[in-house]
Amino acid sequence: MKFPSLLLPLAVGSAFFLAGCGQSEKPAAPAAATDGSVTVEITANDAMKFSLAEIRATAGAKVSVTLTNLGNMPKQAMGHNWVLFTALPDPELNVLIQAAASRPAAEYLPADTAKILAHTKLLGAKESDTVVFTAPAQPGEYPFACTFPGHAALMRGKLIVTAAKP
Ligand code: CO
Repeated sequence: MKFPSLLLPLAVGSAFFLAGCGQSEKPAAPAAATDGSVTVEITANDAMKFSLAEIRATAGAKVSVTLTNLGNMPKQAMGHNWVLFTALPDPELNVLIQAAASRPAAEYLPADTAKILAHTKLLGAKESDTVVFTAPAQPGEYPFACTFPGHAALMRGKLIVTAAKP
């Protein structure tokens, strides 16, 4: 008899958890590769949600972000992108993103490209895109959002950049 499909991930998850407990002398699996590079997979869906609200990287690290739109709705109604901004305060970021709502031809990317550190394409259903960039040299918090009109209220997060180890 087959495992109910819900139980399998649970069993795997528990095994992983138990294995982790039994090997406390070993360091936890690193979030980043030994060269400091970071690979991040983010999904977006028809409920206007990113799967991650927080990404971490050390200053100057190579970061690869892949956004996948798991939704089914047409791009014109429920497109998603991932746009990383300079360390803007929220009010300024909101103004920038709201102004971008009048830029469908630019896939709703804000016009002030100096404020954009990295971005994916605007994705329709089941589409995916990867952007590779260098994390800012200055430690701090860098906001990211989906700039499709109305989405940034829910679809936003931050890249937390920490100082590189000497
Ligand atoms: Co979106």
